[in-house]
Amino acid sequence: MVKMKLRFVRLSQEIFHLDKTELCCGVFLIISIIALLILTLLSMCAEYCTQPIVKDTLTVQRKLLNINDESRRTRKQDFIDILQSRTYRTCADIFDGKLGLHWTPKQLQYTKIFTTRVRDIVMKYNSGLIEGNSGHHRDMLKLYSEIARLDFIKTVCETGFNAGHSTFMWLNTNPDLVVYSFDIDMHNYTRPLAYQLQSMFPGRLHVTYGDSRLTIPLFHADSPEVKCDLIVIDGGHHFDVPARDFDNFRAMVPLPRENLVILDDWPGREDVNLTIGAMWRERIRAGRVQELFSCLKENNRWESGITLGQYV
Ligand SMILES: C[S@@+](CC[C@H](N)C(=O)[O-])C[C@H]1O[C@@H](n2cnc3c(N)ncnc32)[C@H](O)[C@@H]1O
Repeated sequence: MVKMKLRFVRLSQEIFHLDKTELCCGVFLIISIIALLILTLLSMCAEYCTQPIVKDTLTVQRKLLNINDESRRTRKQDFIDILQSRTYRTCADIFDGKLGLHWTPKQLQYTKIFTTRVRDIVMKYNSGLIEGNSGHHRDMLKLYSEIARLDFIKTVCETGFNAGHSTFMWLNTNPDLVVYSFDIDMHNYTRPLAYQLQSMFPGRLHVTYGDSRLTIPLFHADSPEVKCDLIVIDGGHHFDVPARDFDNFRAMVPLPRENLVILDDWPGREDVNLTIGAMWRERIRAGRVQELFSCLKENNRWESGITLGQYV
């Protein structure tokens, strides 16, 4: 063994003209690089190999999530009463009392899988750049998870899938619920993340790509049987997009059907005041919607909020 080492040292000195110190540094460098490679491979494996393939059927999901118990559901009026019972400074203030997240271990596991996938897919397809979304606001996610638990909500219709943060909240919170999402598909991470949610929640997410001003009426003409209980307006914020989304979704809520409408980013800054704000005020005046509640998002440099209403 010692002889072999000596021969190796002599050979290296002859071929590479290295002295003993240079040789030691070289060997140390090579060993460090190999160790670093092994560590990188192991950490990649820890992230990907240990992730379970999520392909639960609806029944298994219901059982695992264990939230099909009616006693854990909230009635819409009780929920609105809680919201209206006091004035909140920010949306985060709502969660100091009766409201709060009710994640089961399975839901937490799904959340971890989804957030890891968002990070990886957005990095891969858009260098880590992502449009503003509800994932940036914990208070918004909590409010969404409370709304998803309301007993009457079976079908959610939303504009603005983006990276799927709000969609994930609807699907993960309530296993009985189906989502119809409409997005113009302007980000190349949108489709891969929609596939991700479709494989995690089979049969429960339908995404229609294109300008919602055209796709919602076309979808409604093709599938008149789809009726919405919760409407989320969070797609295009400019021109007539919010107004068209509001009116087109209204046709998918056969009144007096119980319903809720979420308007994201209203109240908000001057630019959305002229689009979302003007649309909302005009629809309230015309008696087409009733505002139930609104709050400002916490730590939000755009100073925007969320508004809750119902078509009437
Ligand atoms: C603010 S993001 C939605 C965030 C998401 N709802 C959430 O909370 O995580 C807005 C999305 O609306 C989409 N969008 C913009 N204009 C649209 C239009 N005219 N029709 C449909 N989607 C549109 C964009 O592609 C973007 O993904």
